[in-house]
Amino acid sequence: MSARPRTLSVAPMMDWTDTYCRSFHRALAPNIWLYTEMVTTGALIHGDRARFLSYDDCEHPVAYQLGGSEPDDLAQCAKWVEQAGFDEVNLNCGCPSERVQRGAFGACLMAEPKLVADCVKAMVDAVSIDVTVKHRIGLDHNESESFVHDFIGQVGEAGCRIFIVHARNAILKGLSPKENREIPPLRYDVVYRLRKLFPDYTFIINGGIQTADAVREHLQHVDGVMLGRHGWHQPWDLKALDAMCYGTQRVDGGAVPETRADVLRLMRPLVERWLAAGIPLRVIAKPWLGLFHGQPGGRLFRQVLSDPKHLNRNDWDVVETAIGKCSAG
Ligand SMILES: Cc1cc2nc3c(=O)[nH]c(=O)nc-3n(C[C@H](O)[C@H](O)[C@H](O)COP(=O)(O)O)c2cc1C
Repeated sequence: MSARPRTLSVAPMMDWTDTYCRSFHRALAPNIWLYTEMVTTGALIHGDRARFLSYDDCEHPVAYQLGGSEPDDLAQCAKWVEQAGFDEVNLNCGCPSERVQRGAFGACLMAEPKLVADCVKAMVDAVSIDVTVKHRIGLDHNESESFVHDFIGQVGEAGCRIFIVHARNAILKGLSPKENREIPPLRYDVVYRLRKLFPDYTFIINGGIQTADAVREHLQHVDGVMLGRHGWHQPWDLKALDAMCYGTQRVDGGAVPETRADVLRLMRPLVERWLAAGIPLRVIAKPWLGLFHGQPGGRLFRQVLSDPKHLNRNDWDVVETAIGKCSAG
Protein backbone atom coordinates (compact mmCIF):
# COMPACT_ATOMS: atom_id res chain seq x y z
CA MET A 1 0.00 0.00 0.00
CA SER A 2 2.74 2.45 0.88
CA ALA A 3 5.80 2.92 -1.27
CA ARG A 4 7.68 4.78 1.44
CA PRO A 5 11.07 3.24 2.21
CA ARG A 6 11.74 1.87 5.67
CA THR A 7 14.61 4.28 6.31
CA LEU A 8 13.31 4.94 9.81
CA SER A 9 10.91 2.98 11.98
CA VAL A 10 9.72 2.68 15.56
CA ALA A 11 10.04 -0.82 17.01
CA PRO A 12 7.24 -3.10 18.13
CA MET A 13 7.01 -2.70 21.90
CA MET A 14 4.56 -4.64 24.02
CA ASP A 15 2.28 -2.46 26.18
CA TRP A 16 3.76 0.65 24.55
CA THR A 17 3.17 0.79 20.77
CA ASP A 18 -0.61 0.52 20.85
CA THR A 19 -2.79 2.51 18.46
CA TYR A 20 -2.68 5.57 20.76
CA CYS A 21 1.11 5.60 20.73
CA ARG A 22 1.36 4.95 17.00
CA SER A 23 -1.09 7.73 16.16
CA PHE A 24 0.94 10.11 18.34
CA HIS A 25 4.18 9.07 16.66
CA ARG A 26 2.52 9.60 13.31
CA ALA A 27 1.51 13.15 14.29
CA LEU A 28 5.20 13.79 15.02
CA ALA A 29 6.73 11.93 12.13
CA PRO A 30 4.72 11.69 8.92
CA ASN A 31 6.86 9.15 7.10
CA ILE A 32 8.37 6.67 9.53
CA TRP A 33 7.22 3.05 9.63
CA LEU A 34 5.29 2.06 12.72
CA TYR A 35 4.94 -1.40 14.24
CA THR A 36 2.22 -2.87 16.43
CA GLU A 37 2.96 -4.69 19.64
CA MET A 38 3.41 -8.41 19.12
CA VAL A 39 0.10 -10.28 18.92
CA THR A 40 0.17 -14.08 19.08
CA THR A 41 -1.56 -16.26 16.54
CA GLY A 42 -3.50 -17.78 19.46
CA ALA A 43 -4.85 -14.36 20.45
CA LEU A 44 -5.97 -13.61 16.89
CA ILE A 45 -7.52 -17.02 16.34
CA HIS A 46 -9.28 -17.39 19.70
CA GLY A 47 -9.50 -13.83 21.02
CA ASP A 48 -11.29 -10.61 20.12
CA ARG A 49 -9.89 -10.45 16.59
CA ALA A 50 -11.59 -7.19 15.62
CA ARG A 51 -10.04 -5.44 18.62
CA PHE A 52 -6.58 -6.91 17.98
CA LEU A 53 -6.71 -5.75 14.34
CA SER A 54 -8.05 -2.26 14.94
CA TYR A 55 -5.95 0.80 14.20
CA ASP A 56 -6.42 4.31 12.89
CA ASP A 57 -6.02 5.19 9.21
CA CYS A 58 -3.49 7.89 10.11
CA GLU A 59 -1.03 5.18 11.13
CA HIS A 60 0.02 4.09 7.62
CA PRO A 61 2.58 2.84 6.87
CA VAL A 62 2.05 0.43 9.75
CA ALA A 63 3.28 -3.14 10.16
CA TYR A 64 1.69 -5.87 12.26
CA GLN A 65 3.91 -8.11 14.34
CA LEU A 66 2.84 -11.71 14.87
CA GLY A 67 4.18 -14.20 17.39
CA GLY A 68 3.76 -17.85 16.49
CA SER A 69 5.45 -20.92 15.04
CA GLU A 70 2.65 -22.84 13.32
CA PRO A 71 2.78 -22.24 9.53
CA ASP A 72 -0.96 -22.70 8.92
CA ASP A 73 -1.93 -20.45 11.82
CA LEU A 74 0.54 -17.79 10.73
CA ALA A 75 -0.76 -17.93 7.15
CA GLN A 76 -4.33 -17.49 8.38
CA CYS A 77 -3.36 -14.61 10.67
CA ALA A 78 -1.31 -12.95 7.92
CA LYS A 79 -4.42 -12.99 5.71
CA TRP A 80 -6.44 -11.26 8.42
CA VAL A 81 -3.66 -8.72 8.84
CA GLU A 82 -3.63 -8.00 5.11
CA GLN A 83 -7.43 -7.79 4.93
CA ALA A 84 -7.41 -5.31 7.80
CA GLY A 85 -5.19 -3.07 5.65
CA PHE A 86 -1.80 -3.31 7.36
CA ASP A 87 1.20 -2.60 5.13
CA GLU A 88 3.47 -5.42 6.31
CA VAL A 89 3.32 -8.52 8.45
CA ASN A 90 6.33 -9.23 10.65
CA LEU A 91 7.29 -12.43 12.44
CA ASN A 92 8.88 -12.09 15.87
CA CYS A 93 12.07 -14.16 16.12
CA GLY A 94 13.73 -11.89 18.68
CA CYS A 95 11.74 -11.94 21.91
CA PRO A 96 13.55 -13.92 24.65
CA SER A 97 10.84 -13.94 27.36
CA GLU A 98 10.26 -17.25 29.15
CA ARG A 99 6.55 -17.01 28.44
CA VAL A 100 7.20 -16.67 24.72
CA GLN A 101 9.71 -19.55 24.84
CA ARG A 102 7.09 -21.77 26.43
CA GLY A 103 4.92 -21.01 23.40
CA ALA A 104 7.99 -22.01 21.30
CA PHE A 105 8.23 -18.75 19.41
CA GLY A 106 10.17 -15.50 19.57
CA ALA A 107 13.98 -15.71 19.77
CA CYS A 108 14.12 -19.47 20.36
CA LEU A 109 12.88 -19.86 16.77
CA MET A 110 16.32 -18.76 15.59
CA ALA A 111 17.49 -22.25 16.55
CA GLU A 112 15.00 -23.67 14.07
CA PRO A 113 15.62 -21.90 10.76
CA LYS A 114 13.83 -24.62 8.79
CA LEU A 115 10.66 -24.09 10.83
CA VAL A 116 10.94 -20.28 10.41
CA ALA A 117 11.40 -20.83 6.66
CA ASP A 118 8.23 -22.95 6.61
CA CYS A 119 6.35 -20.24 8.53
CA VAL A 120 7.58 -17.51 6.20
CA LYS A 121 6.76 -19.52 3.09
CA ALA A 122 3.22 -20.14 4.33
CA MET A 123 2.76 -16.43 5.00
CA VAL A 124 4.32 -15.32 1.71
CA ASP A 125 2.04 -17.72 -0.18
CA ALA A 126 -0.99 -16.35 1.68
CA VAL A 127 -0.56 -12.58 1.27
CA SER A 128 0.84 -9.98 -1.11
CA ILE A 129 2.06 -7.48 1.53
CA ASP A 130 5.70 -7.78 2.63
CA VAL A 131 6.47 -10.58 5.07
CA THR A 132 9.41 -9.54 7.25
CA VAL A 133 11.30 -11.10 10.16
CA LYS A 134 12.68 -9.39 13.27
CA HIS A 135 15.47 -11.33 14.92
CA ARG A 136 18.72 -11.20 16.90
CA ILE A 137 22.28 -11.85 15.70
CA GLY A 138 22.65 -15.06 17.68
CA LEU A 139 21.55 -17.15 20.63
CA ASP A 140 23.08 -17.47 24.07
CA HIS A 141 26.87 -17.15 24.04
CA ASN A 142 27.43 -18.39 20.51
CA GLU A 143 29.07 -15.52 18.64
CA SER A 144 29.62 -17.44 15.43
CA GLU A 145 28.30 -15.39 12.52
CA SER A 146 27.65 -18.49 10.45
CA PHE A 147 24.63 -19.13 12.69
CA VAL A 148 22.83 -15.95 11.62
CA HIS A 149 24.07 -16.35 8.02
CA ASP A 150 22.45 -19.75 7.86
CA PHE A 151 19.26 -18.38 9.42
CA ILE A 152 18.97 -15.58 6.86
CA GLY A 153 19.94 -17.91 4.02
CA GLN A 154 17.10 -20.31 4.78
CA VAL A 155 14.49 -17.68 5.65
CA GLY A 156 15.43 -15.64 2.58
CA GLU A 157 15.06 -18.71 0.34
CA ALA A 158 11.54 -19.05 1.72
CA GLY A 159 10.63 -15.56 0.51
CA CYS A 160 11.54 -13.06 3.23
CA ARG A 161 13.32 -10.07 1.72
CA ILE A 162 13.38 -7.68 4.68
CA PHE A 163 15.22 -8.47 7.90
CA ILE A 164 15.06 -6.34 11.03
CA VAL A 165 18.07 -7.18 13.13
CA HIS A 166 18.40 -6.35 16.82
CA ALA A 167 22.20 -6.29 16.94
CA ARG A 168 22.58 -8.41 20.10
CA ASN A 169 22.43 -12.09 20.95
CA ALA A 170 19.40 -13.28 22.89
CA ILE A 171 20.24 -15.15 26.07
CA LEU A 172 17.45 -17.65 26.48
CA LYS A 173 18.10 -18.66 30.09
CA GLY A 174 18.93 -16.50 33.07
CA LEU A 175 18.23 -13.00 31.74
CA SER A 176 14.92 -11.15 31.88
CA PRO A 177 13.62 -9.54 28.65
CA LYS A 178 14.77 -6.17 30.04
CA GLU A 179 18.28 -7.48 30.75
CA ASN A 180 18.27 -9.03 27.28
CA ARG A 181 17.92 -5.51 25.86
CA GLU A 182 20.90 -4.25 27.87
CA ILE A 183 23.45 -6.93 28.77
CA PRO A 184 24.38 -8.81 25.58
CA PRO A 185 26.78 -6.49 23.77
CA LEU A 186 25.67 -4.61 20.67
CA ARG A 187 27.60 -5.78 17.61
CA TYR A 188 26.55 -3.52 14.78
CA ASP A 189 29.37 -4.70 12.53
CA VAL A 190 27.73 -8.13 12.31
CA VAL A 191 24.65 -6.47 10.77
CA TYR A 192 26.77 -4.39 8.41
CA ARG A 193 28.40 -7.61 7.20
CA LEU A 194 24.97 -9.21 6.64
CA ARG A 195 24.12 -6.30 4.35
CA LYS A 196 27.23 -7.05 2.28
CA LEU A 197 26.72 -10.79 2.27
CA PHE A 198 23.08 -10.61 1.15
CA PRO A 199 22.98 -7.60 -1.18
CA ASP A 200 19.50 -8.40 -2.53
CA TYR A 201 17.84 -8.17 0.86
CA THR A 202 16.87 -5.12 2.91
CA PHE A 203 18.44 -4.85 6.36
CA ILE A 204 17.06 -2.66 9.14
CA ILE A 205 19.32 -2.26 12.16
CA ASN A 206 17.99 -2.01 15.72
CA GLY A 207 19.36 -1.70 19.24
CA GLY A 208 20.61 1.23 21.34
CA ILE A 209 20.24 3.89 18.63
CA GLN A 210 19.51 7.32 20.11
CA THR A 211 20.94 10.22 18.12
CA ALA A 212 20.77 11.77 14.67
CA ASP A 213 24.50 11.15 14.25
CA ALA A 214 24.06 7.48 15.03
CA VAL A 215 21.16 7.20 12.57
CA ARG A 216 23.24 8.88 9.87
CA GLU A 217 26.19 6.61 10.52
CA HIS A 218 24.11 3.41 10.40
CA LEU A 219 22.49 4.50 7.14
CA GLN A 220 25.95 4.43 5.56
CA HIS A 221 25.92 0.67 6.11
CA VAL A 222 22.32 -0.59 6.12
CA ASP A 223 18.96 0.27 4.54
CA GLY A 224 17.12 1.47 7.60
CA VAL A 225 17.19 2.17 11.31
CA MET A 226 14.61 1.04 13.87
CA LEU A 227 14.34 2.99 17.13
CA GLY A 228 12.87 1.38 20.20
CA ARG A 229 13.06 2.91 23.66
CA HIS A 230 14.39 6.28 22.51
CA GLY A 231 11.23 6.88 20.46
CA TRP A 232 9.18 6.25 23.59
CA HIS A 233 11.25 8.26 26.08
CA GLN A 234 11.99 11.23 23.80
CA PRO A 235 9.30 11.21 21.12
CA TRP A 236 9.94 14.82 20.01
CA ASP A 237 13.20 13.59 18.45
CA LEU A 238 11.13 11.57 15.96
CA LYS A 239 10.07 14.78 14.22
CA ALA A 240 13.60 15.91 13.37
CA LEU A 241 14.75 12.37 12.56
CA ASP A 242 11.83 11.95 10.16
CA ALA A 243 12.70 15.25 8.46
CA MET A 244 16.35 14.20 8.27
CA CYS A 245 15.54 10.82 6.71
CA TYR A 246 12.68 11.76 4.39
CA GLY A 247 12.73 15.56 3.93
CA THR A 248 10.26 17.87 5.62
CA GLN A 249 7.30 17.54 3.26
CA ARG A 250 4.32 15.53 4.32
CA VAL A 251 3.40 13.12 1.56
CA ASP A 252 -0.31 13.53 2.35
CA GLY A 253 -0.20 17.35 2.32
CA GLY A 254 -1.39 17.51 5.96
CA ALA A 255 -0.30 20.05 8.56
CA VAL A 256 3.21 19.79 10.00
CA PRO A 257 3.31 20.59 13.73
CA GLU A 258 5.79 23.32 14.65
CA THR A 259 5.76 22.91 18.42
CA ARG A 260 5.18 20.18 20.95
CA ALA A 261 1.81 21.72 21.82
CA ASP A 262 0.88 21.73 18.11
CA VAL A 263 1.39 17.99 17.98
CA LEU A 264 -1.19 17.39 20.68
CA ARG A 265 -3.61 20.02 19.33
CA LEU A 266 -3.35 18.42 15.88
CA MET A 267 -4.48 15.19 17.53
CA ARG A 268 -7.41 16.79 19.33
CA PRO A 269 -10.18 15.49 17.01
CA LEU A 270 -8.81 11.97 17.30
CA VAL A 271 -8.38 12.27 21.08
CA GLU A 272 -11.95 13.52 21.47
CA ARG A 273 -13.20 10.64 19.35
CA TRP A 274 -11.33 8.17 21.58
CA LEU A 275 -12.61 9.85 24.75
CA ALA A 276 -16.18 9.73 23.41
CA ALA A 277 -15.69 6.01 22.78
CA GLY A 278 -14.76 5.58 26.45
CA ILE A 279 -10.99 5.21 26.12
CA PRO A 280 -9.49 6.59 29.34
CA LEU A 281 -7.27 9.67 28.98
CA ARG A 282 -4.71 7.77 31.09
CA VAL A 283 -4.30 5.26 28.24
CA ILE A 284 -4.32 7.89 25.47
CA ALA A 285 -1.80 10.17 27.19
CA LYS A 286 0.70 7.51 28.35
CA PRO A 287 2.90 7.82 25.22
CA TRP A 288 2.94 11.64 25.55
CA LEU A 289 4.71 11.72 28.91
CA GLY A 290 8.16 12.19 27.38
CA LEU A 291 7.05 14.86 24.89
CA PHE A 292 8.42 17.80 26.91
CA HIS A 293 11.50 15.87 28.09
CA GLY A 294 14.20 18.36 29.12
CA GLN A 295 11.94 21.39 28.53
CA PRO A 296 10.96 24.03 31.11
CA GLY A 297 7.77 22.78 32.72
CA GLY A 298 8.29 19.27 31.33
CA ARG A 299 8.08 17.74 34.77
CA LEU A 300 4.81 19.53 35.53
CA PHE A 301 3.38 18.43 32.16
CA ARG A 302 4.18 14.87 33.13
CA GLN A 303 2.74 15.32 36.59
CA VAL A 304 -0.63 16.58 35.32
CA LEU A 305 -0.89 13.72 32.85
CA SER A 306 0.09 11.12 35.47
CA ASP A 307 -2.25 12.37 38.18
CA PRO A 308 -5.51 10.39 38.51
CA LYS A 309 -7.21 13.51 39.90
CA HIS A 310 -6.72 15.20 36.50
CA LEU A 311 -6.84 12.12 34.29
CA ASN A 312 -10.14 10.85 35.65
CA ARG A 313 -11.89 13.91 34.23
CA ASN A 314 -11.25 12.37 30.80
CA ASP A 315 -11.63 15.61 28.87
CA TRP A 316 -9.51 17.75 26.57
CA ASP A 317 -9.19 20.58 29.10
CA VAL A 318 -6.79 18.40 31.08
CA VAL A 319 -4.47 18.32 28.06
CA GLU A 320 -4.59 22.14 27.83
CA THR A 321 -3.84 22.37 31.55
CA ALA A 322 -0.77 20.16 31.04
CA ILE A 323 0.39 22.16 28.01
CA GLY A 324 -0.13 25.38 30.01
CA LYS A 325 2.57 24.26 32.47
CA CYS A 326 5.22 24.42 29.76
CA SER A 327 6.56 27.76 28.67
CA ALA A 328 8.19 26.13 25.62
CA GLY A 329 4.75 25.16 24.22
C1 LIG B 1 8.61 -2.30 26.63
C2 LIG B 1 9.19 -3.06 25.46
C3 LIG B 1 8.42 -4.01 24.82
C4 LIG B 1 8.93 -4.71 23.72
N1 LIG B 1 8.11 -5.57 23.03
C5 LIG B 1 8.55 -6.13 21.87
C6 LIG B 1 7.67 -6.87 21.02
O1 LIG B 1 6.46 -7.01 21.30
N2 LIG B 1 8.19 -7.41 19.89
C7 LIG B 1 9.51 -7.26 19.54
O2 LIG B 1 9.95 -7.75 18.49
N3 LIG B 1 10.35 -6.55 20.32
C8 LIG B 1 9.91 -5.96 21.45
N4 LIG B 1 10.74 -5.17 22.18
C9 LIG B 1 12.14 -4.98 21.72
C10 LIG B 1 12.22 -3.75 20.81
O3 LIG B 1 11.44 -3.93 19.65
C11 LIG B 1 13.69 -3.47 20.41
O4 LIG B 1 14.16 -4.55 19.64
C12 LIG B 1 14.60 -3.28 21.61
O5 LIG B 1 14.01 -2.40 22.57
C13 LIG B 1 15.97 -2.73 21.18
O6 LIG B 1 15.85 -1.47 20.58
P1 LIG B 1 16.21 -0.11 21.39
O7 LIG B 1 17.55 -0.29 22.02
O8 LIG B 1 16.18 0.97 20.35
O9 LIG B 1 15.14 0.03 22.45
C14 LIG B 1 10.26 -4.47 23.29
C15 LIG B 1 11.03 -3.51 23.95
C16 LIG B 1 10.51 -2.82 25.03
C17 LIG B 1 11.37 -1.76 25.71
